Amino acid sequence: MLIVIKKNYEEMSLEAARVVSETVREKPSSVLGLATGSSPLGVYKELIRMHKEEGLDFSKVTTFNLDEYIGLAPSHPQSYHYFMQESLFKYINVDERFIHIPSGMADVNDVNRIHRYCGWYEEQISKGGGMDLQLLGIGANGHIGFNEPGSSLGARTRIKTLTQQTREDNARFFNNDMNKVPKYAITMGVGTIMESRIVLLIASGRQKAEAVKKTVEGPITAMVPASIVQMHRKAILIVDEEAGSLLGLQHEQIVTDLE
Ligand code: F6R
Repeated sequence: MLIVIKKNYEEMSLEAARVVSETVREKPSSVLGLATGSSPLGVYKELIRMHKEEGLDFSKVTTFNLDEYIGLAPSHPQSYHYFMQESLFKYINVDERFIHIPSGMADVNDVNRIHRYCGWYEEQISKGGGMDLQLLGIGANGHIGFNEPGSSLGARTRIKTLTQQTREDNARFFNNDMNKVPKYAITMGVGTIMESRIVLLIASGRQKAEAVKKTVEGPITAMVPASIVQMHRKAILIVDEEAGSLLGLQHEQIVTDLE
């Protein structure tokens, strides 16, 4: 695992955007796995700048988002469909036919249908040749996507019940009204994520430091789903100083440019 420690959120974002843009420049028809949340906002901002000022071309890129809340229509301001449009897609030249985000309109009681839908999502990823790069944020409890602690490390795209901690963490986006925070989500599984050729995990802020330490220093456990990235052949972890503050400096591939 390559660990890069940057000074702050902005530097972390620029470095991660550089890795994404290199992937797209090397292979214009790249398949990108994308994340939502606060962590990737700076990366998306920089990719938009690169598109506008440097002509970074997304016209042949295919995207697959990690997850979506169940019960939110694409037009809901807190849906991940809406987030992706507003934070990235509407500012770059990605072809909307190549955008994939799990549907939030599933009926939680129709388990068979959800199961078939998740299988279809996986098939689309395979048909696209698999992901070249998966961008990930990390939850304070070590979740990736909505794979909460205890999730099977081999799992594929499926429906998951959100933990109380994740719902509380996300309540800020729903006027702090827990009744409005969805209880379920569709998420790529850890197994799906691990098949991406590059896994790029970003984390910023002191509240992520514990999860980052457990991810990097192990043990590998389903109780910290992100810890599985230790097994990935090309995992890149870009964190800011606060998120990396609990890491021992004994790691071989650690790169810091802190003064
Ligand atoms: C988002 C996702 C989540 C977030 C994680 C961190 O698509 O899958 O795993 O990456 O909850 O969220 P932020 O970045 O808001 O701290």
